[in-house]
Amino acid sequence: MPAAEPMTQDQLKALVGRAALDYVGHGHIIGVGTGSTVNCFIDALAEQRERIVGAVSSSEATTQRLRAHGIRVFDANEVEELAVYIDGADEIDPRGYMIKGGGAALTREKIVAAQARRFVCIADQSKWVPVLGRFPLPVEVIPMAAQRIIRQFAALGGTARVRLRDGAPLVTDNGQHILDVTGLQITDPPAFESMVNDWPGVVTVGVFAHQRAHVCLLGTPEGVRTVT
Ligand code: 5RP
Repeated sequence: MPAAEPMTQDQLKALVGRAALDYVGHGHIIGVGTGSTVNCFIDALAEQRERIVGAVSSSEATTQRLRAHGIRVFDANEVEELAVYIDGADEIDPRGYMIKGGGAALTREKIVAAQARRFVCIADQSKWVPVLGRFPLPVEVIPMAAQRIIRQFAALGGTARVRLRDGAPLVTDNGQHILDVTGLQITDPPAFESMVNDWPGVVTVGVFAHQRAHVCLLGTPEGVRTVT
């Protein structure tokens, strides 16, 4: 019998996107993240959309996709608490600490995550790391503070660049800019997150330590590995 083809990254994303349905309670309003893995979750959820009352969304892109599937989107201010928040990550470590913001949605992602009792991270195995920092760290900043914040990262040994789209600074859903920072090893994510959050002009740093994942569904060739 010929050996089975290895699963592609997209197939692993689809696998964990569907597995996340197990964490969606009936009659709930849930928090929904942003990105290609979450898109797989939304598409799987759409097949059972009567199961939930609706969702609080972390980006304009996610809102559009939810609405296209007929899923009601609530404003975050209309909902006091969410049972669960489901989102992807750019990196996740064994403690559930993450780097997020590759899709520039980190600020709203952190807001919705903070409203949820449980964060379920869905990721293919390429996102699993022992120490955060290989993926360029996204930081949403007020544009007038960008150059000073770039110098603050340089003092830590990091190199920060303004993220561009079509040759101009990318503008987030919140009207701000993104810096991507390379050259950092984030060994103490909670302390690092608190420190960078304190810098004037930082809107959100893409380290999710205070809003860490409680469960990670990791897509592997052997199937979904659940890490708690
Ligand atoms: C968006 C995010 C995403 O969760 C992260 O970039 C992972 O995306 P993908 O599922 O497409 O790999 O933080 O801001």
